[in-house]
Amino acid sequence: MGRIYSFIILIIFPILFFIISIYYCLYSSPTHYEIIITQYTIPITELNYSNISIPLNIIQTGMDNSDGWRNVQSFRELNPKHSYLFFTDIEAENFVRKHMSSDVIHAYEIMPMTILKADFFRYIATYILGGVYSDIDTECLRAIDTWTDNRTDVGLIVGIEAESSTWKKDSVRPLQLCQWTFAARPNHPILKQMIENILKQTKKFSNKPIDLSVVTNWTGSGLWTDTIFDYLKKTYNVEWSTLTKLQCSRLIGDVYILPITAFQPSAYNMGAKGRNDPEARIWHYFYGGLKREYLKKAKT
Ligand SMILES: *[C@@H]1O[C@H](CO)[C@@H](O)[C@H](O)[C@H]1NC(C)=O
Ligand SMILES: *[C@@H]1O[C@H](CO)[C@@H](O)[C@H](O)[C@H]1NC(C)=O
Ligand SMILES: *[C@@H]1O[C@H](CO)[C@@H](O)[C@H](O)[C@H]1NC(C)=O
Ligand SMILES: *[C@@H]1O[C@H](CO)[C@@H](O)[C@H](O)[C@H]1NC(C)=O
Repeated sequence: MGRIYSFIILIIFPILFFIISIYYCLYSSPTHYEIIITQYTIPITELNYSNISIPLNIIQTGMDNSDGWRNVQSFRELNPKHSYLFFTDIEAENFVRKHMSSDVIHAYEIMPMTILKADFFRYIATYILGGVYSDIDTECLRAIDTWTDNRTDVGLIVGIEAESSTWKKDSVRPLQLCQWTFAARPNHPILKQMIENILKQTKKFSNKPIDLSVVTNWTGSGLWTDTIFDYLKKTYNVEWSTLTKLQCSRLIGDVYILPITAFQPSAYNMGAKGRNDPEARIWHYFYGGLKREYLKKAKT
């Protein structure tokens, strides 16, 4: 009898304990991002991701879950194999706290405007999870698995936003890259560099008055463009000036650069060809109200 009791204590109890722990881990506190992590089990720091392609995630953020929106439906209907991951402002903040180091969390917390936090979050979320990020006021025109034209060796997808010789007047860089939509595999070095650059800019700008040109150099398309072109120059010795008047997509290393028609098909004055062109992937509505909302001061 003694043996049977020891058997029960030594074998059965640990097994029961193990089962209960697993159950507890899986089903307790099911906040949004924890569900994502358990579903896709992406190891955050250990793996060398250089041979892993872009995961099938669509990441969007907003004030409220806008599931019923026509634009959101376009993403879900055209990409049934993708997981649709929506983060409210609070979920976004929790995600940053959970996955980032204290210096990143601090920078995120002291950002004085919602638009800065929303920008910062898109780089953090794609760095950790991988997938496509797209603003909530964009419509998906073409299934995401066709975005790279059957290329499989792509780690980052980025589109031209604007190209103009009078850029100082109407945009922020002579050849500007778009950050309302982009895609990346987890741990991409460009996103890591972008997060580091935002930390530097936060030191520089956090006590200065803010206007749109500060926003664009702090977290927006100015810094995004500089970070990507610096990386292409340093890693592949490609100058941004060789990418002007881009008509077809071009792969540089694992960075797939799309012509202006891809994400900004309405920029007819800069050579874009409209939403029915085969290169068009995204339509951006630029809802004024949304922008105003994001320009509001962040709650502190
Ligand atoms: C990851 O793997 C690639 C190719 O297998 C290698 O070139 C690269 O140095 C590795 N990176 C790290 C950080 O280990
Ligand atoms: C990526 O590389 C690792 C280590 O070299 C290998 O074990 C893994 O199978 C590769 N994955 C893919 C999808 O090729
Ligand atoms: C990609 O592959 C599919 C299926 O093989 C083919 O129908 C399509 O034309 C290809 N697209 C491009 C841009 O090569
Ligand atoms: C933003 O960056 C551009 C290019 O480096 C620079 O010309 C401009 O003065 C910067 N603006 C601010 C407010 O930092």
